[in-house]
Amino acid sequence: MKSDMSAPDSNSLPEVDLSKPPADNIVRVTFEPENKTVEFVFDTMPYDGHGLPNSFLDVAENYGIFLDHACGGVSACTTCHIFVKKGAEGLSEAEDLELDRLDLAPGLQLNSRLGCQCVIEKPGTYVVEIPAWNKNYVQEGKPVTGVK
Ligand code: FES
Repeated sequence: MKSDMSAPDSNSLPEVDLSKPPADNIVRVTFEPENKTVEFVFDTMPYDGHGLPNSFLDVAENYGIFLDHACGGVSACTTCHIFVKKGAEGLSEAEDLELDRLDLAPGLQLNSRLGCQCVIEKPGTYVVEIPAWNKNYVQEGKPVTGVK
């Protein structure tokens, strides 16, 4: 949760014209399945203190988009598990800490990353999916270890 309460409500995000590619210095991120898209000038987003700076968790927190992060973004859980559907070439390589943690993640895919550790290193277009069961677990109050 943001401490300064300045994150916009994700239901009132500024419109992004998806018919045009982003400008050269812009990062465009779409979070599926809700299809919420945000844009910002690369490397100018204020650090929210959740996960690594410019990680997808940092973006989500800055824009009021829900991405669970039970450990606070230190690669000690898997609740920020995301699938990278577009833009992998502009992202940081996964470090051993992230890879070891991902091995424990339910529903692991080749495009799996931890949202708190996966850093946007270049302007461009990114699409990530937040697995539905991540949200279900929060809504249903179930322990993460029970996910298949
Ligand atoms: S928030 Fe716990 S590993 Fe990313």
